[in-house]
Amino acid sequence: MKQMLLMTPAGLDNLTLVDAPDPGEPGPGQIRVRLHATSLNFHDYLVVSGASAPSEDRIPMADGAGVVEAVGDGVTEFSPGDHVVSGFFPRWQAGPPEVDNFVEVPGDGLDGHAREFVVADATGFTRAPAGWSHEEAATITTAGLTAWRALVVNGGIRAGDTVLTLGSGGVSVYALQLAKAMGATVIATTGSSEKEERLRALGADHVINYRENENWGPTVRELTGGAGADHIVEVGGAGTLPQSIRAVAIGGHISLIGVLSGRGGDIPTGLLMARQARLQGLIVGSRAEQEDFVRALEATGVRPVLDRSFPLEELAEAFRHQESGTHFGKITVGW
Ligand SMILES: NC(=O)c1ccc[n+]([C@@H]2O[C@H](COP(=O)([O-])OP(=O)(O)OC[C@H]3O[C@@H](n4cnc5c(N)ncnc54)[C@H](OP(=O)(O)O)[C@@H]3O)[C@@H](O)[C@H]2O)c1
Repeated sequence: MKQMLLMTPAGLDNLTLVDAPDPGEPGPGQIRVRLHATSLNFHDYLVVSGASAPSEDRIPMADGAGVVEAVGDGVTEFSPGDHVVSGFFPRWQAGPPEVDNFVEVPGDGLDGHAREFVVADATGFTRAPAGWSHEEAATITTAGLTAWRALVVNGGIRAGDTVLTLGSGGVSVYALQLAKAMGATVIATTGSSEKEERLRALGADHVINYRENENWGPTVRELTGGAGADHIVEVGGAGTLPQSIRAVAIGGHISLIGVLSGRGGDIPTGLLMARQARLQGLIVGSRAEQEDFVRALEATGVRPVLDRSFPLEELAEAFRHQESGTHFGKITVGW
């Protein structure tokens, strides 16, 4: 079978398409999946670019979607022909968070999904939403589930709440769509004037250009009549958190998700305390949360915004496109 391999030392120039032995038939509790798609996340970029590289050769990509070809003894949940999507933490089935590292995350500590076939525990997959393409389904594993956990699992979003999203990447666009589907008002930021209109077209009630307005936290408060945002999907990290703390409502919730603006900086802790806001870190979610999310996607009709699609052999090009920052929503790879 064909698979993409990230050779050491990691780097976009060291992604190579190779032939590998077929993984064979599934053992007890396992399924064999014919993979058809993956999607790019900033996390995958950190791995393949070498910023957070594995110490050995690795099949990259956390996200994987495809069709079950065979099931092993004891697997009752799936049948051949089912469309499935991988989980970010294959072992975290349900309940509170259990893991604070990427040791067992496909495409990071373990081999990932940039390959034609995989044999893995059935519990590492869920069904995909009915009628979705494999490229759409692949966006669920990381970006989609993260947005869902931020707003629904941890945030307990309610109709009428105000949600602030930062930028127009995979997590943020999903969060915008979910928030609108659940009756929230959305304030979105972007660094691109061209993307402002696209965010409005997706339902953003207000859009702030964070390059033209660096002090966007108070602007969020003005736009909400002084109340602030109830939920902030914080993908920026240290560079944006001070403004997010200015933007958050009293008693609001900031989901600390990303590191797009770096990992260190001055945080106005006094203001965070005064706002009595909840600052909660998260890493994606459990299998049970993914199952709930799939059901919600079917019920709401939310479909991911797909940017460009690349063939597997052009995975490095796909990452260069992500690196350019010109994308809107999810970049996918299909084969
Ligand atoms: N904790 C978790 O579970 C988890 C899960 C998924 C992702 N993440 C993290 O979340 C972040 C986003 O991931 P992603 O996969 O959605 O990334 P992505 O698709 O590559 O999104 C990048 C976009 O973010 C925006 N951006 C870049 N720098 C920004 C800044 N300083 N302030 C505001 N927006 C900025 C840009 O949008 P504009 O062009 O519109 O400005 C850019 O296109 C990453 O740090 C990633 O590691 C964490």
